[in-house]
Amino acid sequence: MTSPVESSRLGRLELVEYPHPALLRRARPLARIDDAVHDAVEQMFEIMYQAGGIGLAATQVALPYRLFIVNVEARPDAGEELVFINPVLSRPRGNAVQEEGCLSLPGLRMDVRRPERIVVKAWSLTGEPFEADLDGLLARVVQHEFDHLEGRLFTDRLPDAAALEARRTLDTFREVFAGKQSRGEVPVDAELLAQLDRLEAERCGNA
Ligand code: NI
Repeated sequence: MTSPVESSRLGRLELVEYPHPALLRRARPLARIDDAVHDAVEQMFEIMYQAGGIGLAATQVALPYRLFIVNVEARPDAGEELVFINPVLSRPRGNAVQEEGCLSLPGLRMDVRRPERIVVKAWSLTGEPFEADLDGLLARVVQHEFDHLEGRLFTDRLPDAAALEARRTLDTFREVFAGKQSRGEVPVDAELLAQLDRLEAERCGNA
């Protein structure tokens, strides 16, 4: 008798920092929303609040899935907890410059130019499709988190001079990460990539 295929639990999630490979490659659409995904979203909100963030993408907790969460109030007792699964952005309009930071690049904050308004279509955690026309901070956070699903960070959107400035900080992050890997505190890239492949195989279709 064969046992049913069980999706592995996702375990204890942790925030990962640049240049963890999960942050640098395109996430894959979720083909199903199982208990483990519900558990992951719950953990992601805890992690985000603890870090004082207003948005968090699955790739930032080393999950290669097209999923991110937002609460612009950054507190569990205020604002609205939004979950975006397999989001699609369209109709970018206007543009605005605002300072951004990222939980995967702690300490770095820079001005980023983005469309002022966008339309997002996504699925909720209960599998309901929804669509919203966003502006202001919500439009900005959604675009920042969507970039994470594309393997992009806000530092990829800087004008030349600012990009050069950010580069020094990114070099430092790379040295710190390599140091952790050489001391065995973080698995080597090949191992991290193999884990991402396993997670994709469990919950993503053949896209
Ligand atoms: Ni970020």
